[in-house]
Amino acid sequence: MPRFGILTSGGDCPGLNAVIRSAYIRVTREYGGSLVGFRNGWRGVLDNDVVEVTEDMTRGVAGQGGTILGTSRTNPTEGEDALERVWHAIEANDLDGVIAIGGEGSLSAAHALSCAGIKVVGVPKTIDNDLNGTDYSFGFDTAVQIATDAMDRLLTTGASHGRCMIAEVMGRNSGWIALHSGIATGAHAVLIPEHPVSLDQVVEWVESARDRNQPPLVVVAEGFPLDDGEVYNPRGAEASGRPRLGGIGERLAPLVEARTGIETRATTLGHIQRGGTPTAYDRVLAARFGAAAVDAAASAQWGQMVALAGEQIVRADLVDAIGSVKRITAERYGRAAVCFG
Ligand code: F6P
Repeated sequence: MPRFGILTSGGDCPGLNAVIRSAYIRVTREYGGSLVGFRNGWRGVLDNDVVEVTEDMTRGVAGQGGTILGTSRTNPTEGEDALERVWHAIEANDLDGVIAIGGEGSLSAAHALSCAGIKVVGVPKTIDNDLNGTDYSFGFDTAVQIATDAMDRLLTTGASHGRCMIAEVMGRNSGWIALHSGIATGAHAVLIPEHPVSLDQVVEWVESARDRNQPPLVVVAEGFPLDDGEVYNPRGAEASGRPRLGGIGERLAPLVEARTGIETRATTLGHIQRGGTPTAYDRVLAARFGAAAVDAAASAQWGQMVALAGEQIVRADLVDAIGSVKRITAERYGRAAVCFG
């Protein structure tokens, strides 16, 4: 009977629990096997901190945000005895392999472990939707919906006060959340890292909206670089050295106000976008990924991850998901930009 480990790694993301639940159901009902959860991502593997996944644990969790297993940004390839500790956890729990649910950083670690002989299957997760190798990752739809709802609210304040509203969204160095929520709300400008525009252009879009008696709404992705080409990073770096993003909206607001004379306010949506109930779409995608990951592990497809291609769940090499992010093309941005201003 197969026995797999499962872990959630990196930032939390709506839909993680739906993956765990679905993997549990699949491994027990389809294969007569069992599932062991590692607490707090790869840290739980290094420390052999485990919990047996049970029906009680997974009952009713598909609609819950966060992760019942906890998460961390621990890198399991760092530290002299890291690999030994990973082997130890796998042997101590009598595992046939590990299902790792994570974003680019976590799947890179999974790939490195796989190259070292550890049996790993990946499940792509990120609200940023920037993972190569899959058309969409779960969590993204929820983040876009939350951002869209928030911007609909900002628009009414903008209209009532005659203000320009700036909404800053997450996404790291990609603009997927910004572009999709911006299109959904009919924003007058969407500023994304992949295709930076000048402050002059932003001002032109804002003034054009104001001149038509529209309260200007600007959506800016946290990784958008201003005219100096630098991504705004006032908060230093994470333990891994990765910059902490956030704050570009507040930086942009006085610049827009000074140039346009329109009172301008910025709102940073932050972790609100990652928390709470997943949308139905994300629950379904997560459930499909969870079941498919168990199937991949049961057929020893190590070093692979599950992915969405069109409407189909497929398998891709972990290496396809790492190294570079999925970019918004100039053509796609250009089509959206026709509606700005
Ligand atoms: O990758 C998901 C994400 O929410 C990014 O959009 C954001 O830059 C980052 O994580 C924030 O990470 P943390 O919660 O560790 O500050």
